[in-house]
Amino acid sequence: MEHIKKPIRKAVFPVAGLGTRFIPATKASPKEMLPIVDKPLIQYAAEEAIAAGIEQLIFVTSSSKRAIEDHFDKNQELEDELEQRGKYDLLAMVKHIVPEGVSCIYIRQPEALGLGHAVLCAKPVVGDEPFAVILADDLIDGFEQACLSQMVNLYKEQHCSVIGIEEIKAAETDKYGIIKPEEFYENVWKIKSIVEKPTPDKAPSTLAVVGRYLLTPAIFSHLEKIKKGAGDEIQLTDAIARLLAEEQVLGFQFNGIRYDCGSKLGYLKATIDYALQHPNLREGFKKHLQMVCKKNCF
Ligand code: G1P
Repeated sequence: MEHIKKPIRKAVFPVAGLGTRFIPATKASPKEMLPIVDKPLIQYAAEEAIAAGIEQLIFVTSSSKRAIEDHFDKNQELEDELEQRGKYDLLAMVKHIVPEGVSCIYIRQPEALGLGHAVLCAKPVVGDEPFAVILADDLIDGFEQACLSQMVNLYKEQHCSVIGIEEIKAAETDKYGIIKPEEFYENVWKIKSIVEKPTPDKAPSTLAVVGRYLLTPAIFSHLEKIKKGAGDEIQLTDAIARLLAEEQVLGFQFNGIRYDCGSKLGYLKATIDYALQHPNLREGFKKHLQMVCKKNCF
């Protein structure tokens, strides 16, 4: 239990998935590079991590994901061009995608064996420290404070694994990890059990895991032991189920809106809401939406 005094400095981004729900857009580009307005999903996820104090971004990638490495790397040609044209705002933007003091590490997941396997691939880099896992598909607008920062605050109080939770519709339990909760205090649940993608009749509740996890390093020994589970994949949920037997794991109902950007509908909702928040687009976009609503008699 040495880890408990250590701060959370590392975040794992499993980005090896194929993104089949967005084919053909994802045929040659990673789904995590899909933009919401003008920023790719993976950058929103990285910014959320950095805002929560993360210093090491660990991407678990596959062969078709080189664009992610390029995105977080220096682009000298672009920087020179922007400088020459006097576009200093854009120059600052591209230069500071990864701020000073933050580093990026890339690990290959050799086979698509599931989320649990992807997290296990990061073990040599994470070591014996608590760490975050962020699924970039789940874009979260945390209003005043980003979701991961809210979770880190809870971790600092409780020193145990914390998992982002959201209430979902009963019919949708088979898309998520579902917890059996015991009330702890407001918006915080002790997880009694957890199951991956149960059908509604078997689900222990309608509290679903979203793509934000703070995990103690004890998770790795469980990931090493578990066999393939739901969907014939090595599931992070199954390792958490084992971790529960030896450590407290909390479910945290964060303040904010989650967009399931792994689905087209969720992606479109995020695009609309983020465009309406964008200072240069808001007014023009609002007018267009009003016109669309009128025309379609909404
Ligand atoms: C993964 C997890 C699941 C979790 C979900 C959140 O599923 O396995 O437990 O509820 O992310 O987005 P996936 O969406 O990768 O099928």
